[in-house]
Amino acid sequence: MNSRRYNTILITGGAGFIGNHLTRHLVIKYPDSKIVNLDKLTYAGNLENLLDVEDRSNYHFERVCITDEVETQRVFQQHRPDLVIHLAAESHVDRSIVSPLEFVHTNTVGTANLLNQAKKLWQEDGFQDELFYHVSTDEVYGSLGPSGYLYEATKYDPRSPYSASNAAADHLVMAYYHTFQMPVIISNCSNNYGPYQFPEKLIPLIINNIRHQRPLPVYGDGSNVRDWLYVTDHVEAIDLAVHGGVIGETYNIGGHNEHKNLTIVETLCDQIDVKLNNPVGTSRKLITFVKDRLGHDQRYAIDAAKINSELGWSPSINLREGLSLTIDWYFENATWLQNITSGAYKEYYRKMYKVE
Ligand code: NAD
Ligand code: DAU
Repeated sequence: MNSRRYNTILITGGAGFIGNHLTRHLVIKYPDSKIVNLDKLTYAGNLENLLDVEDRSNYHFERVCITDEVETQRVFQQHRPDLVIHLAAESHVDRSIVSPLEFVHTNTVGTANLLNQAKKLWQEDGFQDELFYHVSTDEVYGSLGPSGYLYEATKYDPRSPYSASNAAADHLVMAYYHTFQMPVIISNCSNNYGPYQFPEKLIPLIINNIRHQRPLPVYGDGSNVRDWLYVTDHVEAIDLAVHGGVIGETYNIGGHNEHKNLTIVETLCDQIDVKLNNPVGTSRKLITFVKDRLGHDQRYAIDAAKINSELGWSPSINLREGLSLTIDWYFENATWLQNITSGAYKEYYRKMYKVE
């Protein structure tokens, strides 16, 4: 397998959920590479997620919006990355139903701007040894029926403003490959879970609500299926793909780990009951069926055979183990959760950088 090496890696969205795991992994594993985390710090960005690596000499933070042409150009010129791993995005489907334009602006226009900045920097040397890597979603393929899988060749059929804005970003990435021969790779991943996930997403929301004995909202009848992947398995896949993936290709990443939402919620209830020595069934009483999400995709299921056969990747953490690690982390990091739900986590940034 061809293994590329990079001097400077620009990660966008490194203060978010997947981004902080990826940043930590790269900062520690590649001490001789400079890792620049470019993040606007929206409601979803939290520098507390990176406290354990922020003092490392190869880590740098830039508070910049990916749609800001002047500031992104400065960052590209100043740091001169040879690898961009792009994760900065509005990521929550429910929010995209309320504010679609924000999603188009960040996810589509922001990606176009980053592609343009990378092209300006890299075309000087004829795109030698550089890579623009887009961390995208399986939701671009749309919803599956009761059987079948999502393959790299599956036709794009995004059905929410979120997935449409990410699909547009994917198309722009491929347009830069075909039009300018800019080196790009895309990966489309299924639902991630694990530590540091913002508690608007299903798994941390349910854990937090059980902790506070609040109702556990299940959309519709809870029969929608998601394919769950522990976040560090996703990070390993990205590491392999940026170093050995084929330029111009896309890779599907998923856990082969399909479950109905109701099963996930019930499993969390039961595992937490056992952890707290409560009779199993106690937390399930909190389950509350609520109005369904508009246009709620029924089922996603990734076929990850390509990344498995080409790059040797497969998930290492099964669901029971992953949920147990996640539950333990949220119980042990109650202050992190409390800081998020109270909004106090933004104080950290204000104190550090003395700005709003
Ligand atoms: P997240 O919402 O946790 O984090 C997003 C990060 O991007 C935050 O730190 C935020 O501050 C930053 N950001 C948002 N807008 C920005 C802007 N205009 N300029 C600079 N920074 C900005 O998201 P996540 O769950 O870590 O997802 C990261 C990427 O991976 C997204 O593109 C998402 O679509 C994709 N993805 C997520 C999952 C998942 O299950 N979470 C699965 C597959 C793909
Ligand atoms: O498939 C990958 C995608 O997974 C990523 O691209 C997105 O960024 C990420 O947010 C996630 O999207 P989902 O919409 O699948 O994740 P969410 O956690 O919002 O919801 C998971 C499922 O649970 C979904 O079917 C909706 C349902 N749900 C969600 C919430 C927040 C509930 O039943 N109740 C809830 O309160």
